[in-house]
Amino acid sequence: MTDHSSPRDARIALAYQTDDDKLDQQKLADRLALPLMPLADIVGNAELQFCLIYRDGCLKLLDRQALKKGGLAVDIEPRSGEQHSWPAPKKSLFAQAIGKKTRTVVDATTGWAQDSLALFRMGYAVTCIERSPLMAELVADGFARLAGKDWVRRRSLTPPQLLVGDAIEILRHLPEQPDCIYLDPMFPPKRKKSALAKKSMTILRDILGDDLDRDALFVAAMEATGKRVVVKSPDYAEPLGGKPTQSFQGKLLRYDVYLKSC
Ligand SMILES: C[S@@+](CC[C@H](N)C(=O)[O-])C[C@H]1O[C@@H](n2cnc3c(N)ncnc32)[C@H](O)[C@@H]1O
Repeated sequence: MTDHSSPRDARIALAYQTDDDKLDQQKLADRLALPLMPLADIVGNAELQFCLIYRDGCLKLLDRQALKKGGLAVDIEPRSGEQHSWPAPKKSLFAQAIGKKTRTVVDATTGWAQDSLALFRMGYAVTCIERSPLMAELVADGFARLAGKDWVRRRSLTPPQLLVGDAIEILRHLPEQPDCIYLDPMFPPKRKKSALAKKSMTILRDILGDDLDRDALFVAAMEATGKRVVVKSPDYAEPLGGKPTQSFQGKLLRYDVYLKSC
């Protein structure tokens, strides 16, 4: 399914556990046009493949296997191996692709916000765009938790701004040209079910499908950027915008950099 205009998806419900929860969660259910029901009813209804629930202090997305416990939330902790200082050093391939002199970055395909958060921790000024209202709610919950973190408060940092809607449209109306626009759209997988695919990406693909308009997104990004567009691609995919100015090759993925000629 790739209808991004409406968040309604008959396979998804919002779960509550107590009557107090129910009152708190009605607004979220209304915003996402999702049915709000007790967790036990969701467990008993095989049509419902996914559910949102507040669990362990965060908003989580679950598939049927995780109904009893677990689930996926936006992870706001540094990635393994990442230095816990702020700003974190700009040493990774990702940072090299974004550019050390880059100051402002728009992440036009926020998803689980793992790349946005890595950029934020490296000290870039980040704006996020996400068109799936459901993903945007998960990201907003993650950013609210981030705002409460000690290291963020001590430095008076503000989590990235989150814009909800189609980036192809939003990029046309940015108040200022960012130095860099970052794209990580969903490409079709090489094999139907890859054992290596992360659970978070598998569930995203199951709910949202591939991003079939990624060519149009690339064109919009090149028009809107001040200096560069960076595209993350699986290593088997053709470069989104033709021959890039520069490429940073990782193990299974590539960052293609397109510099804008003035
Ligand atoms: C592969 S995921 C991105 C993962 C992300 N880089 C991360 O670190 O979690 C792609 C996301 O981009 C979003 N997306 C794709 N095209 C978009 C567009 N034109 N406008 C806004 N969001 C878009 C999809 O809804 C999906 O959530």
